[in-house]
Amino acid sequence: MTATDPTRALSLVDQQLDASLDRLFALLRIPSISTQPDHAEDCRRTARWLSDDLAGLGFESAVRETPGLPIVVAHHRQTGGAQIGSARRPHVLFYGHYDVQPVDPIELWTSGPFDPVMQDGPDGERWIVARGASDDKGQVMTFIEALRAIRAADGTYPLDVTVLLEGEEESGGPSLRPFLDANRDELRADIALVCDTNMLDGGVPAITTMLRGLVGEEITISCADRDLHSGLYGNAARNPLHLLVDVLASLRDETGRITLPGFYDGVEDPPASVRAEWAHLGDDAALLGPVGLSIPAGEQGYTALEQTWARPTCEINGITGGYGGEGFKTVLPAKAQAKVSFRMVAGQDPDKVRAAFRAHVRARIPSDCSVDFHEHGGSRASALPIDGAELKAALGALTAEWGKEAAVIGSGGSIPVVKDLQEALGMDSLLIGFAKSDDRIHSPNEKYDLTSFHKGTRSWVRVLYALAE
Ligand code: BES
Ligand code: MN
Ligand code: MN
Repeated sequence: MTATDPTRALSLVDQQLDASLDRLFALLRIPSISTQPDHAEDCRRTARWLSDDLAGLGFESAVRETPGLPIVVAHHRQTGGAQIGSARRPHVLFYGHYDVQPVDPIELWTSGPFDPVMQDGPDGERWIVARGASDDKGQVMTFIEALRAIRAADGTYPLDVTVLLEGEEESGGPSLRPFLDANRDELRADIALVCDTNMLDGGVPAITTMLRGLVGEEITISCADRDLHSGLYGNAARNPLHLLVDVLASLRDETGRITLPGFYDGVEDPPASVRAEWAHLGDDAALLGPVGLSIPAGEQGYTALEQTWARPTCEINGITGGYGGEGFKTVLPAKAQAKVSFRMVAGQDPDKVRAAFRAHVRARIPSDCSVDFHEHGGSRASALPIDGAELKAALGALTAEWGKEAAVIGSGGSIPVVKDLQEALGMDSLLIGFAKSDDRIHSPNEKYDLTSFHKGTRSWVRVLYALAE
């Protein structure tokens, strides 16, 4: 048996599955909600838990402070000794996030968000149900459990591994990029492995090579210096909710195009060959049917998949203002607020999009009213190479595990670190994840299929041995 034969480690994954699940459940019980300051200590506890676990796997591991939530960095590098052959061993940097989204609306959960349970899904799958089961603790543990199995099989690892786990991904926190810049030499590896993405439906494994970027903006429009009686003042006094809905409505035309000047500068359609391949990966009904819809709402002339993977957009994520409580109140509010996000594709500059949005809003606010802007993060889209040797090796490993040809896909979601790794460390990433479109990430009753966890772990075993070759 060579050091690159996964057979023994794979059977250890199978034998250890129950113990692996116990560890995942322990991790899921810690409510590491990064966006809520009263959970900061839980986030720190999660970082310590992971760091201790990695130390137990022979890693040199530490919880590293930042101005915000800590980052776990763990290394396992071959030290000293003669190497067989002259070539340096490959070195991979694994990235994941240990923070999770808030749980609200809590009343829609059928079990406690931090009280993980196994459930039978209607599709015959066993589900692991908890906040973070899929995004991203379950996915992080597929990698860590793969390391454990490899170590149990071989006593060591077939390549050098650095693990980087952050705690501000879901809050768009500012700490990671400066940390990467400050620790370039320590963190640089041949390639990054990121486990925070989906597979395709039907058990088809996939590597994601396109992610959209994100610009988040919160706006507050203020008119009168107090709430007013809408009969005594309505019509004469400006209503900030009217201003807000007019401004927001004007961002998108009736064909689904975003109206901001320059918004599409630098945006290109994917090549015809790519669009043709995507056409086989799922039609509009496949994306929209499972959520009770059927008509793609984005730009005309693009499929639902193209609208999410390859086209930029603007979404209103929330509107508040006035009276929304029980009964009725004839109020003319003093303020109105909205949270708006733009998803960006390759070629777009987040700063330019933000500036264009602010100019568009300001131009529509009368001189006796005012608007305030609050920034919620900005990241560029990521495009990754689709012809690298590592990608080929990983596709082969995934195909072997799942018995179905692994696909190269895009995604509408955002993982800002991927661009940061390119810019700060000059590293590309392989985005390999086992989440499914029905995992309800960020929603009540988030779940991860037991199959995703088990075969995801087995997949990493195969990918790591394949990359070591
Ligand atoms: N893991 C997700 C993103 C994702 C999910 C990408 C599925 C591809 C497939 C990540 O944790 C996430 O939620 N990202 C946020 C951005 C962040 C800055 C708040 C997003 O996409 O909204
Ligand atoms: Mn995630
Ligand atoms: Mn997320």
